[in-house]
Amino acid sequence: MPATDGAGVELVRMIGQPSLDMLDPFLLLDAFRSDNPDDYIAGFPPHPHRGFETVTYLLNGRMRHKDNTGREGVIEPGGIQWMTAGRGIVHSEMPEQEDGLLEGFQLWVNLPADHKMDQPGYQEYSAEHIPLETRDGAEVRVITGTTCQGTSGPVVQPLTEPLYLDVSLQPGKAFKEMIDREHNAFIYGIEGETLVESTASDTATVGKDQLAILSQGDEVRVTAGDHGSRFLLISGKPLREAVVRGGPFVMNTHQQLRQAMLDYQSGNF
Ligand code: FE2
Repeated sequence: MPATDGAGVELVRMIGQPSLDMLDPFLLLDAFRSDNPDDYIAGFPPHPHRGFETVTYLLNGRMRHKDNTGREGVIEPGGIQWMTAGRGIVHSEMPEQEDGLLEGFQLWVNLPADHKMDQPGYQEYSAEHIPLETRDGAEVRVITGTTCQGTSGPVVQPLTEPLYLDVSLQPGKAFKEMIDREHNAFIYGIEGETLVESTASDTATVGKDQLAILSQGDEVRVTAGDHGSRFLLISGKPLREAVVRGGPFVMNTHQQLRQAMLDYQSGNF
């Protein structure tokens, strides 16, 4: 679903919209890709979050991040920022460029009820600190989780045990990975066509900018189309708790949501 967020950033909302409200524990997935500054230059001026994590992964361009604790930095291509908003953070996310391509993703990962009010924190890594696993015809950037070949990503989140892989496949090459049977998982196509082996004995094709929810299982097997493919493979442990959303706050009850708004308005973040 095309959407506009922040001060007027054009993006595509893949999760967190009417046809896919959430994929527990994932509350939202926004994809942005534009070389027209009008689509992104306004950025995301200061705004709050409480109760979950925002995960920014940039493929192209640079974003400057600032928060109300005085923390500031620039996310560069290939870099990940895994921000645990916890009890509350106010931050801005602004393009650090006036033209050129800006491309990336923001994923929201829920926190369990007894961790929504944890202290905020960051796990932030530039591209050179993200392991690149090489297989036959495949390159796998491991942001979090551990691959079947034993490569672990630098981000650690035992509460939802996420797997976040950025996989590039040469034409016709196959790739497989283990997924925890209890986890929800999806593939997001970045480039080319990714053919996913289906239990229904046929093959599902995931094209560029398409999201495919994987059925329950413990292994995913895919093959790249004739022009190769690049995709995200993301999974996480569902929390199976009540979700009450109000814009940038995601809590378990309406009372907690009201409290979040009051705390933000009274400067208690
Ligand atoms: Fe934000």
